[in-house]
Amino acid sequence: MSDDRLIVALDVPNVVQGLALADRIGDAVSFYKIGLGMLTGGGLALANELKQDHGKRIFLDMKLFDISATVEAAVRGLAQFNLDFLTVHGDPHVVRAAKEGAAGSQTRILAVTVLTSLDREDLDDCLIRDGAIPDLVVERAGRAFDAGADGVIASPHEAAMIRALPEAAGRLIVTPGVRPAGAAPNDQKRVATPRQAISDGADHIVVGRPIWQHEDPRAAAEMVISELP
Ligand code: C5P
Repeated sequence: MSDDRLIVALDVPNVVQGLALADRIGDAVSFYKIGLGMLTGGGLALANELKQDHGKRIFLDMKLFDISATVEAAVRGLAQFNLDFLTVHGDPHVVRAAKEGAAGSQTRILAVTVLTSLDREDLDDCLIRDGAIPDLVVERAGRAFDAGADGVIASPHEAAMIRALPEAAGRLIVTPGVRPAGAAPNDQKRVATPRQAISDGADHIVVGRPIWQHEDPRAAAEMVISELP
C-alpha cells in the first residue's frame, strides 16, 4: 500500500532508467522527486509521463534562484504542467516571485533554507552572516513562510524547531537525509529514520539511494512505509 508521505528521489540519469525504476516499484510509491541531475536526461518529460500516464504526484527539485522577473517566468512556465511541488531558494524575493508565477496552478512552492551540505566554513566563504546553522535555518524558514512559501525543505534535525514556529502552521515540511534503520548513510551527514522525521513534524520524507539502489526497490519502499508512524 503506497503512502504519499514517502517521496522517492529518482536520481537516475535519464527518462528510460527513471521509467524502468518506477515500473519496478509499481503501486508501492505514489510520489516521486525529479531533480536537476536529470534535467538534460528528459526530467520534465519523465515528470509529465509519471503524472499523466501513471497518476503519480511529482516533486520537481529545481532550487531556482534569480532576479524576481526571471523566477516568476520560470515558475509560470513550469506551473503549466501542474506538478505538485517545486523548490526555490528561500530568499524572500525569490519566494514571492515564485508564488506569483505559480498563481492559478496547483503547484506548491517549497523553499530551501540552508543547503544541508554546507557547514559554517562554507557559509563564511559565501559571506553569509555569523550564527549557528540551525538558528539561520529556522530564521530563513520563518522569512520564507512570511513571503508565502507553501513549505520548506529541511534536515530532519531541524524539523521540530521549524514545526514550532507560529508561521509554520498549515505549511509543509519536507525532509531529505532520511535513512531506514540499518541503511548506509552514503554522503548524508545528519540522518534520521523515517519514523523520527515524521514524529518531529515532517509532512513528507525524501528517500533516494536506499530505495533506487536496492536490489528490490519495491520491497525497500514498502519497508520505509512500514516504518512510518
Ligand atoms: O539518496 P538520498 O536519500 O541521500 O537522496 C536524497 C535526495 O534529496 C537527493 O535527491 C538530494 O539531492 C536531495 N536533497 C538532499 N539534501 C538537501 C536537499 C535535497 O539530500 N538539503
